[in-house]
Amino acid sequence: MLGSLTKSDLQRDIDSLVQSVGGQPLSRDARRTSREHLSRLRNAYRDRPDLFDPATIQLLQQLAEELNTLPPSVGISPREVLRSTFGYAAFRSGQEEIIQAVLEGRDCIGVMPTGAGKSLTYQIPARILGGTTLVISPLIALMKDQVDALTELGIRATFINTSLDFEERRSRVAALRAGRYELVYAAPEGIEASLSEVLVGCDIRLVAVDEAHCISQWGHDFRPAYRNLTGLKTRLGGVPILALTATATAEVVTDIERQLGMRAPKQFRGSFFRPNLRLHVYRKGDGRNTRADLLALVRERADRSGIVYCLSRKTVEATAEFLREHGVRAMPYHAGMDPADRSRVQDAFRRDEIDVVVATVAFGMGIDKPNIRYVIHRDMPKSLESYYQEIGRAGRDGAPSDCVLFYSWAEVASFDRFTDGVDDQTVRARGRDQCREMFAWADRRACRHQTLVAYLGEAIAPCRTACDVCTKTDLLASVRAESVKPRKKSRDAFEGLTADDALLARLKSLRKQLADARGIPAYLVFSDAALIQMVERRPSNDSELLAVSGVGPKKLAQYGAAFLAALRSAT
Ligand SMILES: Nc1ncnc2c1ncn2[C@@H]1O[C@H](COP(=O)(O)OP(=O)(O)OP(=O)(O)O)[C@@H](O)[C@H]1O
Ligand SMILES: [Mg+2]
Ligand SMILES: [Zn+2]
Repeated sequence: MLGSLTKSDLQRDIDSLVQSVGGQPLSRDARRTSREHLSRLRNAYRDRPDLFDPATIQLLQQLAEELNTLPPSVGISPREVLRSTFGYAAFRSGQEEIIQAVLEGRDCIGVMPTGAGKSLTYQIPARILGGTTLVISPLIALMKDQVDALTELGIRATFINTSLDFEERRSRVAALRAGRYELVYAAPEGIEASLSEVLVGCDIRLVAVDEAHCISQWGHDFRPAYRNLTGLKTRLGGVPILALTATATAEVVTDIERQLGMRAPKQFRGSFFRPNLRLHVYRKGDGRNTRADLLALVRERADRSGIVYCLSRKTVEATAEFLREHGVRAMPYHAGMDPADRSRVQDAFRRDEIDVVVATVAFGMGIDKPNIRYVIHRDMPKSLESYYQEIGRAGRDGAPSDCVLFYSWAEVASFDRFTDGVDDQTVRARGRDQCREMFAWADRRACRHQTLVAYLGEAIAPCRTACDVCTKTDLLASVRAESVKPRKKSRDAFEGLTADDALLARLKSLRKQLADARGIPAYLVFSDAALIQMVERRPSNDSELLAVSGVGPKKLAQYGAAFLAALRSAT
């Protein structure tokens, strides 16, 4: 019998399995039938492995896991998916409202700050809506990571872009046509080319346009290819569109709405307050040595990821050199370096092979490393908008992160010298105002968060817990006390660490080991925030571990035993 099995019989057979697993909530019976179906396919594979390409094998593995570890997804509530697929306990502000609107089939524009969790607002509907959700994203280099992260969670996702060879692309397009993916990522450039035609024949239930401000020439990252998206809604039969961005100006929002042909879109603005960022501000001088302070801050945060922003390329080079001389794993990054060197630095940082990037503002768009634990401004940025963007790169995973700003009037003078060379009078005036607003903000003794989001048009109460003014804390005080103590000559790596620090260090090295074995970045195993919670709560069994934010059934099955063993050995 099997001898006569053809590839197209097999494809049809697999498609019917996909339909029954991914199409609706599964009853106990349906689940058993699907398991039996899957085991027939396994037998077929044993006899005729030549009929199964790698994409098909991966799909079958995912279906098997879906049947074993995941509850039915279609038809269940967003909160259930949040818990069972992502392992998170609660929605962040704005997420639930956007998801609700999307599920009602409305067009929607979500404006939320960096790290607020915009991705979940299409990833959760993708599980619930069935069919396929198309995600337009400008950063090809990051698609693989995003898809890897989703695969880690047991979601059927892929990307289709120019980085694929012909065969791989063909096989993914075929799988897309057959409706096998919940999520497909593509670049706007690809929509212009052949992909557009393919999409028309697919069951696309939602289009999410990420970094949607790229469509607007008023935005700071205008990408002409985003204009390919004009008319996409109509071509795909009026499919709902969800546009997401962290850029909030009215011009940009109007442009997004018009260019994408959205119909009466619902608009959501998340809060721009980031309570896990602890803001500290120091005026330079006053008998203090900024370089020594900087070194002390970085040393105190050894083995954690951080960014040090400097005004000029020269300072970047000198500061990186200075840190390296003192044993810090730091590298410089600025626009004067050649692109290959720059991407080497970015990769090393992403994979935790270096701890610190010393950079000019050129280090920016597309850094989506979630475990950046601090951002230090060695010099004052040119505006509060830039400051907000730059500190926003810290703490995307929600864990506490320090943002330390050193400022002085000398920077205002430097910016003035720069803007003096600008011909356009309004631009010049704007530049002068902006750096003065920045200086005035830094110099003022009021809640840093409250005054910062006020600048972005939002009113909040004082943070009480997350800035130097509210908490009356001085990060450098302990550092200075430390520096008068004589340094010990030999230092054991774990000496002086508390039990918690030591356990965290052990969990991190376990994470790195597991990640290396699978060839993925460490943070795809668990985020820093999840590890920190494990240390705090010391879960001792599966259900306690599941209660940690960021641990879902899939990750529990994959890594739970290893982490529980490490946690047990610590107590
Ligand atoms: N409800 C939640 N609970 C806990 N963590 C969450 C929640 N929602 C999202 N996250 C986590 O927050 C981090 C940032 O999310 P995401 O990448 O979606 O941010 P973003 O809004 O797209 O930011 P950017 O504008 O920089 O792209 C991710 O690690 C994500 O898993
Ligand atoms: Mg995003
Ligand atoms: Zn405050």
